[in-house]
Amino acid sequence: MLFMTPQGIGIDHKRKDGILMSKVAVIFWSGTGNTEAMAQAVAEGAKAAGAEADLLTCSEVNGVEAYDAVALGCPAMGAEELEDSEFLPVLESIEAALAGKKVALFGSYGWGDGEWMRNWQERVTAAGAALVGDGGYTVNEAPSDDDLAKLKAIGAKLA
Ligand SMILES: Cc1cc2nc3c(=O)[nH]c(=O)nc-3n(C[C@H](O)[C@H](O)[C@H](O)COP(=O)(O)O)c2cc1C
Repeated sequence: MLFMTPQGIGIDHKRKDGILMSKVAVIFWSGTGNTEAMAQAVAEGAKAAGAEADLLTCSEVNGVEAYDAVALGCPAMGAEELEDSEFLPVLESIEAALAGKKVALFGSYGWGDGEWMRNWQERVTAAGAALVGDGGYTVNEAPSDDDLAKLKAIGAKLA
């Protein structure tokens, strides 16, 4: 059944203190934990700002229609590419549903110059996503405390 709330159509929002909570999905892939630490900070920031946030690995994703906003995290892999066995298929499956939603991108990289993130930003913008902040947030290898604080702030913007 479709229904309308002030925050969207057909999304089953919970209430906190009588106020509808927005729903944020934080979907990530991480091989060695750097992007996972970033994802946790985004989810914490969203929750601290009053949203209901689900931290999801690729195998746990079942569409994003039920969410008001989506954060996507993936490191630079291949040759400046998104991880292609688990993350890319998930991105392809949810891409059309990103149109009109608030979306944040983030990920860790090693030796490159962030090309993978520039391409990724272009891709989701073309799909109609409304990118929050200044675009994707990148970190060289492990996030610092300052990075984690900035990622929490990004999570709060999605809430
Ligand atoms: C197979 C593989 C390919 C990679 N390709 C790139 C690359 O093209 N550009 C880059 O800057 N870093 C590259 N890296 C480095 C990772 O992006 C970096 O180590 C990152 O911190 C990994 O994040 P994670 O801990 O979330 O897996 C690559 C790492 C691996 C293992």
